[in-house]
Amino acid sequence: MNKSIFGIVLLSLALFGCGQKKDEPTKPVAAKGDVAAGKVLAEKSCQACHGANGGSVAPAIPHLAAQREAYLLASLNEYKTGKRTHAALRDIATQMTEADLHNVAAYFASLPAVASAKAEDVKHTSPYETGKALATSCAKCHGEDGNAKTPGTPTLAGQQPHYLAAAILEYHRDDRKKTSMKSVTLDSDRMDVEKLALFFAAQTPVQRTAPKRGDAVAGEAGSAMCGGCHGARGVSVDSATPSLAGQDAEYLGKATRSYRTTRQNWGMQRYIANLSEKDIDNIVAFYASQQPKAGDQIPSSTQDLAAKCNHCHDQENNPAMTAPKMNGQDKDYLVMALRAYRDGKRESTTMHNMSFPYSNAVIEGLASWYASQPAK
Ligand code: HEC
Ligand code: HEC
Ligand code: HEC
Ligand code: HEC
Repeated sequence: MNKSIFGIVLLSLALFGCGQKKDEPTKPVAAKGDVAAGKVLAEKSCQACHGANGGSVAPAIPHLAAQREAYLLASLNEYKTGKRTHAALRDIATQMTEADLHNVAAYFASLPAVASAKAEDVKHTSPYETGKALATSCAKCHGEDGNAKTPGTPTLAGQQPHYLAAAILEYHRDDRKKTSMKSVTLDSDRMDVEKLALFFAAQTPVQRTAPKRGDAVAGEAGSAMCGGCHGARGVSVDSATPSLAGQDAEYLGKATRSYRTTRQNWGMQRYIANLSEKDIDNIVAFYASQQPKAGDQIPSSTQDLAAKCNHCHDQENNPAMTAPKMNGQDKDYLVMALRAYRDGKRESTTMHNMSFPYSNAVIEGLASWYASQPAK
């Protein structure tokens, strides 16, 4: 594909996500601002926080130097209209005329990227690497790569990450009444739990042979009412619903029956209420022998994930692009921005959808990755 067409396609995607009209993107950005006039204004009103060189003076304030002009202008307008909420910025932006906004955006965009000493100090901390280190204490039972070999012990490889994190926390709270698992992860804090979950979710699950007990063919028919939540052939596409494909049969049987006793889940309790013991054995035989697969949306490293983000964020030669540059941006600011999108506190459908599945551990990893990249 022609490079400029590619840029336009991505741009329309990005703009569409911001709720702007679909026919806008192909037009060039509105009148260019006056850099010299923008400089005067910036020195008076912005320098105290955004620095004389456009570099942030404190954590959680974004660098503005070399940022895309269209994005800077759009942000200022969003503060002005209240679409983006920040009391100080709103006051500042409402006092500015349309021309002021254009000029100051042009000025910051024209500055060379700040070679921030702080940015170089930021080390990328990969949640996957941390998770891998923490997972050594699970290897004895769940296998080094999360593929368990002991009957009764579940495979964690390729399992949905939100589900894994929730499951660990259920053991902590003693909701599942298993003292063995309660003690194993008791020391981990919430971030550690998310990192463990991410590591295991990114591992490749291996297929199992059909268990001796149960009839997989009969089980396939019986599984019809499970597939709506657990996915086709037990490969879940929902981050909070576990995959069942290729899971250890003994564990599956125990887990299914536990919804009649210890495990609480309204949906599950209803669905298994009318199953006979034989039905359960058959469904278990079916799921245990299916080909497992890690979810598509689970990247295996921060770099893989960032590659997806860069489709919109790293269009160097496209000044009209509204997705901001992130390389070398202040780390705390990036963390705040991503959490705000995810939690619906900063409006952008595109970015909400992008950040929605990510735990704080993933956000931390992404923010430290971008902050540690040299700004361009
Ligand atoms: C009191 C400190 C302060 C002053 C003064 C200030 N800013 Fe900011 N600015 C911030 C903070 C903090 C944020 C992040 C706010 C948020 O979370 O949305 C920000 C965000 C921005 C953003 C959004 C950047 C992005 O990456 O999304 C723009 C654009 C901006 N400021 C421009 C300006 C301009 C232009 C001026 C001067 C006319 C100015 N600011 C004055 C503190 C300040
Ligand atoms: C001593 C062996 C052992 C160790 C060590 C161990 N586990 Fe487990 N784990 C089990 C068993 C057995 C179960 C099944 C318990 C049940 O029936 O609820 C289980 C269940 C789980 C589940 C629930 C899976 C699901 O599909 O719901 C998760 C998640 C889990 N373990 C995570 C971990 C993590 C993370 C570690 C390391 C920090 C760990 N386990 C260490 C034996 C162990
Ligand atoms: C309405 C959606 C829904 C339906 C239908 C459903 N499940 Fe579930 N299932 C869930 C959710 C959500 C969980 C996780 C609950 C939890 O945290 O304990 C779950 C958990 C499970 C688990 C535990 C897995 C593990 O790793 O510990 C098993 C086994 C299971 N379901 C089997 C079935 C079977 C068999 C059927 C069909 C008879 C079925 N489910 C139907 C939503 C559903
Ligand atoms: C489809 C295009 C697209 C993709 C893919 C995308 N973004 Fe964005 N991103 C945008 C747009 C457009 C904005 C500006 C939205 C706004 O005005 O708030 C944005 C804004 C942001 C901001 C705010 C930056 C600032 O200076 O305030 C961050 C942080 C961010 N994205 C991170 C990411 C990360 C991390 C990923 C990958 C997980 C990603 N984005 C993927 C289009 C995209």
